[in-house]
Amino acid sequence: MAYAMLSQLLLALVLLRAGLGSGQGFGFTFNGFRPVDLELDGIAEITPNGLLRLTNESDQSTSHAFYPHPITFKNWMEGSVFSFSTTFVFALISEYPNRGQGIAFLAAPQMGLPGSLPSQDLGLFNAINNGSTTNHVFAVKLDTIESTEFQDINNNYVGIDINSLVSAHAAPAGYYPDGGAGKFESLTFISGRPMQVWVE
Ligand SMILES: *[C@@H]1O[C@H](CO)[C@@H](O)[C@H](O)[C@H]1NC(C)=O
Ligand SMILES: *[C@@H]1O[C@H](CO)[C@@H](O)[C@H](O)[C@H]1NC(C)=O
Repeated sequence: MAYAMLSQLLLALVLLRAGLGSGQGFGFTFNGFRPVDLELDGIAEITPNGLLRLTNESDQSTSHAFYPHPITFKNWMEGSVFSFSTTFVFALISEYPNRGQGIAFLAAPQMGLPGSLPSQDLGLFNAINNGSTTNHVFAVKLDTIESTEFQDINNNYVGIDINSLVSAHAAPAGYYPDGGAGKFESLTFISGRPMQVWVE
């Protein structure tokens, strides 16, 4: 079982939808949030118009919002893993030009990431547990600062992080229009514009 959640900076979430693969009977959609819909920590809050705001202008702040019910990702009888997909809309709004820090969507074995640090650690890990296989944390990181210590590819990328802030896979932010047929179009996370993410 695992909890899905979002972490880190100046995020305004307007839609969150998630579900497991065919026939697993699990799914949820939020078109705006009520305070009871998510388990919040740090300085996260649900605004009166139903946005999830993760942080504010305070430096070095971090917070998390968890879907409050465990999600079973694995069929224990057969050992097979269910497919999972989610999509959400976010905006990264910074008081500084060209500075984030970023957010992550993640699955964790508990609600909370004890000891996780802000800034380049993105509210995910710290220097002690970074890289430990006992974290059991999978994250899709949307990062706007190039941290050379974690071998980030640039300052505007999507990273797949498995237990570590060093991404297992990473790619520059962008999308392929026309159902994948078009030419790659870059996106700038720190533009402050709303963007939609799909995680499959
Ligand atoms: C950010 O939120 C925290 C918690 O609500 C608050 O104490 C702090 O003053 C806020 N910072 C700014 C700059 O608004
Ligand atoms: C932990 O973080 C350091 C940077 O502080 C990095 O060099 C190292 O590779 C990380 N360890 C693992 C196992 O990811």
